Amino acid sequence: MAGGTIVSTGPIKNYNGGMTTFVFVTCFVAATGGLIFGYDLGISGGVTSMNEFLEKFFPSVYKKMNDGSSKESQYCKFDSELLTSFTSSLYVAALVASFFASAITRVFGRKISILIGGIVFLVGSIVNGLAQNVAMLIIGRLLLGVGVGFGNQSVPVYLSEMAPAKLRGGLNMGFQLAITIGILVANLVNYGTAQMKSNGWRWSLAIAAVPAIIMTVGSLLLPDTPNSLLERGHMEKAKSMLQKVRGTSDVDEEFQDLMDASEQSKLVEHPWRNIIQPRYRPQLVMAILIPFFQQLTGINVIMFYAPVLFKTLGFGDNASLMSAVISGLVNVVATFVSIFSVDKVGRRFLFLQGGIQMIICQIVVGVVIGLKFGINGEGSLSKGYANLVLILICIYVAAFAWSWGPLGWLVPSEIFPLEIRSAGQAINVSVNMFFTFIIAQVFLAMLCHMKFGLFLFFAAWEIVMTIFIYFFLPETKNVPIEEMNRVWKQHWFWSKYIPDEAITGGIQLPAGKTVA
Ligand code: BGC
Repeated sequence: MAGGTIVSTGPIKNYNGGMTTFVFVTCFVAATGGLIFGYDLGISGGVTSMNEFLEKFFPSVYKKMNDGSSKESQYCKFDSELLTSFTSSLYVAALVASFFASAITRVFGRKISILIGGIVFLVGSIVNGLAQNVAMLIIGRLLLGVGVGFGNQSVPVYLSEMAPAKLRGGLNMGFQLAITIGILVANLVNYGTAQMKSNGWRWSLAIAAVPAIIMTVGSLLLPDTPNSLLERGHMEKAKSMLQKVRGTSDVDEEFQDLMDASEQSKLVEHPWRNIIQPRYRPQLVMAILIPFFQQLTGINVIMFYAPVLFKTLGFGDNASLMSAVISGLVNVVATFVSIFSVDKVGRRFLFLQGGIQMIICQIVVGVVIGLKFGINGEGSLSKGYANLVLILICIYVAAFAWSWGPLGWLVPSEIFPLEIRSAGQAINVSVNMFFTFIIAQVFLAMLCHMKFGLFLFFAAWEIVMTIFIYFFLPETKNVPIEEMNRVWKQHWFWSKYIPDEAITGGIQLPAGKTVA
């Protein structure tokens, strides 16, 4: 999948060796990294809608919810800063941790970072499962966040370095697929534990230990990447590792390229200073705006709060959790559409088509809820309308899952030239985490104040981002990374930023090299 390449630059070469057991195990570790992230994204919504959980930790929210005489608007029943900080604290921790992780990944290797991620995440899930008070809950979430920060930072790097070049694109989207599977599993677990007489929420939180154990044990069994060994000066070890990973002793060409790459990357001293130069303006703008827009689609309102949202709209407890399972399933299945089509129809088509589909769904949902549910939620949704809202939300989730979901990670990762790659990736990840945090933190307050207008708010942003893509994002399908400057140079707006020599010259790195 050429367009999905994360890190390969330089002439396209065919190195020896293909899929080996090592590569397969690598996929598995990557999957557990995606799973822990997805499990977190999906679990908190269901848990925060469980009565026993609310009664124990957030009694004021619980009281408000069940107080029929309350004048509180239906839209505001769940609004509690403490409740949102339970969900959002994880993403602040992940944001901060990913900076530390990037240093550890570089200095001590990828394996250590994955191991640290797994262990901290495991401790977090235990603290959460045993939680006696809100403090324990939040501390547990912070630990999970540190785990996610380490995992998200190191696993993709590990993956790209272990994978043969021709499998890299598929693996990139495989990570997103694992995220969606993690979300779905969390929704299913919530559905199951909600049927328990007591302590269902505990199980939901504690089961996060399962992917954490797999990730921790997996990381112990894994070798470090040849690139990382080389980076740390172990030349002999690096070579024999590459032979092992590729399943052949004839790896000279790739190894030479890795060594050149390692040398060249040492020449790039100031990626942070580099990236603010005008010639990198298009990449810098994309590294900030793409993750920002991805979160402004409002997707995590559904991922975090679908059960709460459905409950607000009058669905019963079980129906609310079941609805989250249904939208989670749609999310997984629709991701395959992208995996199979992104290198054929291109990124722009998926972005634009998905964007338009999301706009229509959000507007109709906003109007239906506004008209039927009323300004203060004094009305109620008939079963037919409630189902219509659920169907529209599923169509919206499907659109996200084949557009902004995977492309929000893929496109930024394939447009950075080597000399700004590490800085660019760091910006992309941290902007994403920051706005994930913001959405998690303010959604319930926004629902309370903007009511059905919230859906129109996200629709408005989707219109902005779709127009942005139409005018400013060139097609990158099947373009080798080292050729990417040509794409910007031909663009009506960005061409003025790209110096002529950038097309012929510039630092080039052989295929197979990744910068952490
Ligand atoms: C986003 C997450 C989102 C998930 C949904 C990812 O690409 O970064 O914020 O929850 O997709 O599947």
